[in-house]
Amino acid sequence: MSLMLEDAWRKFRYSLGSEEQTVDFAACFSSMLRPADVVALHGELGAGKSVLARAMMRSLGVRQQVMPSPTFSIIQEYEARNCRVAHMDWYRLHGAEELEIIGVREYFQAPWICLIEWAERAPDLLPTTAMYLRLMVVEDRPSCRIVEGRVPASRAWKGWAG
Ligand SMILES: Nc1ncnc2c1ncn2[C@@H]1O[C@H](COP(=O)(O)OP(=O)(O)O)[C@@H](O)[C@H]1O
Ligand SMILES: [Mg+2]
Repeated sequence: MSLMLEDAWRKFRYSLGSEEQTVDFAACFSSMLRPADVVALHGELGAGKSVLARAMMRSLGVRQQVMPSPTFSIIQEYEARNCRVAHMDWYRLHGAEELEIIGVREYFQAPWICLIEWAERAPDLLPTTAMYLRLMVVEDRPSCRIVEGRVPASRAWKGWAG
């Protein structure tokens, strides 16, 4: 069993004042991702998980013009620069069993980087090393979001300048 101590994570929280800032944060965050990374994207419907995921995929080098929602397919696969990206949405799942059948663990290894919306549907399936990003809407500020998350402290990431 692998144990991740609390201080093995670096936690952060930023205010994203516009969709452009979310895209900028996504580019910054994805610059430290590498194959075998798993990023769980949390937040209510409309919080911006897909906006964030697509911006991360662009930054990772996905050139495909259309990036369909994985809500029905569960997984969308992309070629990127030096990696492949699996954009997932577990919203429609009824349990971890379905994911086991799909063979989801294959994607938790190189050359894949996984971006998973609604990972809370099957939290036990995530590797203990999974990072997460949580987006939150801000009352009376429709274009503003809060993002909080965690990355391994060992990862050389300076954070987002904003
Ligand atoms: N700062 C922001 N960051 C991300 N999305 C934003 C922001 N402000 C407004 N939005 C809007 O919020 C919506 C987010 O939708 P989406 O990414 O599909 O949400 P989710 O995948 O979490 O259900 C989009 O319509 C987007 O234009
Ligand atoms: Mg979505």
